[in-house]
Amino acid sequence: MKVKVSRKAHFNAAHRLYVPEWSFEKNDAIFGKCNNPNFHGHNYELIVSVTGEIDPVTGYVIDMKVLKDLIKSEIENAFDHKNLNVEVPEFKNVNPTAENISVVIWNKLRPHLADDKELEVVLYETPRNFVTYSG
Ligand code: NI
Repeated sequence: MKVKVSRKAHFNAAHRLYVPEWSFEKNDAIFGKCNNPNFHGHNYELIVSVTGEIDPVTGYVIDMKVLKDLIKSEIENAFDHKNLNVEVPEFKNVNPTAENISVVIWNKLRPHLADDKELEVVLYETPRNFVTYSG
């Protein structure tokens, strides 16, 4: 019997979406306001879900305190109030779209979870736009 447990988290971050090899006009056409050379911010909402068997002793799939601390140390400390393009090494050569951010988050969390647990990341860039990555 597998159960999915989820924890919500939040971070604010700035980014710029652009392809360095393209002209400003082409970047503008593709990325619009997200190509602002002076960057802009988003209030990202993150939902991290772990699926696995319920431990027969604790009754937990994962201790929520452990999951909370993991998200804090690996994601919030790395991303919150940061300029993703400039301050987060994973985006030095990768466009910090919601898609790529969710993959980076998944890759940062995965090594800290037991092999028999499944991990899913849902990232809201705006209240209406969100992406899901599960490996
Ligand atoms: Ni944006």
